[in-house]
Amino acid sequence: MQRRSFTKLLALGAGSQLIGEPESDAAVETDKPMTPKNSDDRKPSDQPGPVVVEDFIELSRQKLPRPSWEYISTGSEDQVTLADNVDAFRRIGLLPPVLHGVGQADLSTTVLGQKIDMPVMLAPVAGLRMFHPDGALASARAARNAGTICAVSSSCFSSIEEVAAASDGPKWFQVYMPQDKGVARSLVKRVEAAGFSAIVITVDLGERKDADRRNRFSVPHDMLLKHLRDIGHTLPDSITTEKLDAFNQAAWQLSMSWDIFDWLRGITNLPLIVKGVLTEADARRAVKEDVDAIVVSNHGGRRLDGMPASIDRMQRVAETVNGKSELLLDSGIRRGTDVLKALALGARAVLVGRPQAWSLSAAGQQGVSQMLGFFREELENAMISCGCRNVGDISSNLLLNTPPMD
Ligand SMILES: Cc1cc2nc3c(=O)[nH]c(=O)nc-3n(C[C@H](O)[C@H](O)[C@H](O)COP(=O)(O)O)c2cc1C
Repeated sequence: MQRRSFTKLLALGAGSQLIGEPESDAAVETDKPMTPKNSDDRKPSDQPGPVVVEDFIELSRQKLPRPSWEYISTGSEDQVTLADNVDAFRRIGLLPPVLHGVGQADLSTTVLGQKIDMPVMLAPVAGLRMFHPDGALASARAARNAGTICAVSSSCFSSIEEVAAASDGPKWFQVYMPQDKGVARSLVKRVEAAGFSAIVITVDLGERKDADRRNRFSVPHDMLLKHLRDIGHTLPDSITTEKLDAFNQAAWQLSMSWDIFDWLRGITNLPLIVKGVLTEADARRAVKEDVDAIVVSNHGGRRLDGMPASIDRMQRVAETVNGKSELLLDSGIRRGTDVLKALALGARAVLVGRPQAWSLSAAGQQGVSQMLGFFREELENAMISCGCRNVGDISSNLLLNTPPMD
């Protein structure tokens, strides 16, 4: 199979082998969990099933070619930010009250007016169809079944219409901006027509991961050709890999500025979400641009290494924004208690990236459903332990060692 070489923006690839056979519709629709085997009837070779989100890391590693697994799992350069995203949550302690009489918790909330059953959503993840044949279709269905929102990457390698047909659940579309304004405009119109309820603009661009360069991580030619056609480009079947690669390199806007929001407002009424804000100044600017929501994110440590953990920036951004825009957070969320801490510091909900990619590659839609189920159970447990009947009861009073404010 022909391949293209690694490129700056769409650092997608390897996967010349797709993983496993496509799931049957029945399997895809049921969300039957991967249940841990009863130890009594377990053969020595049997693997226990996952019981926490991070169990999917190893299950994913067993399923994927190494370059694909490393594409998902690694961070940029020395991976300082990647590690800190997780460590920063561990630095924050919990000090709950006792005898609060709370025995159950309501995890539901609203994001941009959309009611969701729990404050954990799926982050946009590129290349999903390389990690499992059902890709974003499986993620969107699992999100719908969990009563939450799926933010779909424009580089997931399934078309807008394919994802929309797969799930009638709430979906956002994350756009990497095509250079060609005509293509960009028609992409946005197709997102509207397909029933997506918001557009996410990712503004922290420029992935640079050593592992991907060592592995010469690349996208199969046919997948890249389909992807560029899905975006709205007309390309002949006969195009060579070299020409396709060159076309792809030139196809995307890699240096955007804030005026992108003006342009988008001129062509759509969909809510606009900016993803990748960490500083107070950028948060202020986002409010000035009237964005509907801000995702406090360092892109899961995949962009500029050395940036602080997202959770360490959350409270400052929340104070700056002061309720003028909804706030979400991603990067490093692995436990229900991480979700609780993010909400306590001002997020309305969180998004998960790698947990989605690991669980999808390990077990398709069922894996993603199970992963979301772990977050639900752990958050519910954490809320009950902290005496929170609903997400509105979650506050910074529950936290110890919160990140310093100066
Ligand atoms: C394999 C992979 C691909 C990603 N692709 C995109 C993408 O296409 N667009 C985007 O905005 N963010 C992308 N992200 C970043 C996620 O949306 C999210 O910000 C990040 O994964 C959150 O950190 P976490 O992985 O620790 O949950 C990607 C992340 C991963 C792991």
